Amino acid sequence: MTVGTGDPFGKRGRYPLRLRRNPVPWERQRPTWREAKPGLIADALKRALARPSGNWYVVGAARDIRPGRPHGRTVAGTEVVLWRDAEGRLRAGPGACPHLGAPLKDSPVRCGTLICHWHGLALDGEPFAGWEPFPAYDDGVLAWVRLDRAGGEEPSERPVLPARPDPATAVAAVYTGVGTCEPDDVVANRLDPWHGAWFHPYSFVDLTVVNTPEGEGADAAERDGFAVDVSFKVAGRAVVPVRAVFTAPEPRTVVMHIMEGEGRGSVVETHATPLGTDARGRPRTAVVEAVVAASDRPGFAVARAAAPVLRPLMRAAAGRLWRDDLAYAERRWTLRSTGRFPG
Ligand code: FES
Ligand SMILES: [Fe+2]
Repeated sequence: MTVGTGDPFGKRGRYPLRLRRNPVPWERQRPTWREAKPGLIADALKRALARPSGNWYVVGAARDIRPGRPHGRTVAGTEVVLWRDAEGRLRAGPGACPHLGAPLKDSPVRCGTLICHWHGLALDGEPFAGWEPFPAYDDGVLAWVRLDRAGGEEPSERPVLPARPDPATAVAAVYTGVGTCEPDDVVANRLDPWHGAWFHPYSFVDLTVVNTPEGEGADAAERDGFAVDVSFKVAGRAVVPVRAVFTAPEPRTVVMHIMEGEGRGSVVETHATPLGTDARGRPRTAVVEAVVAASDRPGFAVARAAAPVLRPLMRAAAGRLWRDDLAYAERRWTLRSTGRFPG
């Protein structure tokens, strides 16, 4: 479905900030539920789930895995330890020592070698004493691990990575949250762009879905995804209008590309990683969201210099949205798991 729009972006974002002329109160905005057809979202989800992942799972922010310290995580029910070798490369493998099962996440790393703190078994990342490494990948923003047994798909050399802005001119921040749901619930939330201005009125206003994957969009990216015209709220009536396109390049990732407006070229990648089950047997899923912000505005060079300050702010913005979006995903899981999901 495509609807016509004017030019809400002005002269290609030269004056990014707009004042909303006649702000519509929340309760008087156009309801979106008729357009947000459950079948449309379900079909988009089904298409996403049919795409190959190569068995790669996002573990977290690459910068959180620092030299000299191991990082432990349970991913898809598999205990995983990650660390950096002497060259700074990412290494990964089972989190239990092959000798008597010590938790390797608590073992020290010396000169890039992980040394078990129970009896001193040393792992340099290569197979040893029955310990078989997992392929790991650092894409510059996120750390990934490949779990072939858990994934059960044809393995691939590298994870499916969305196009990102040039890291030299971008600022990246990573937010992580955990909820009681499955990755599908997180992906389904992201493939419902219609909830934005209703559910997150503190962040989004004037949202129109201008293209759905069924429709004939202006280009391939739009034909494949949901295109949305939306304004980010800055303060009071001040907003930044953008056009964003949502696509799912693989079954656990939804990417939002900013196509027009301030920050054109920026991406927000939402990755859903199954962790395991809690004590009550309910699934736990991590949401790892990478915001890679780009801008061709000269002021952005200043913003890059301020990246250490900006990162926590970008994380906090994502954190607020994800508190609500995780509630949506958890609710979806609760209804699904009790046979009460509509449609
Ligand atoms: S348990 Fe690790 S060396 Fe013994
Ligand atoms: Fe949302």
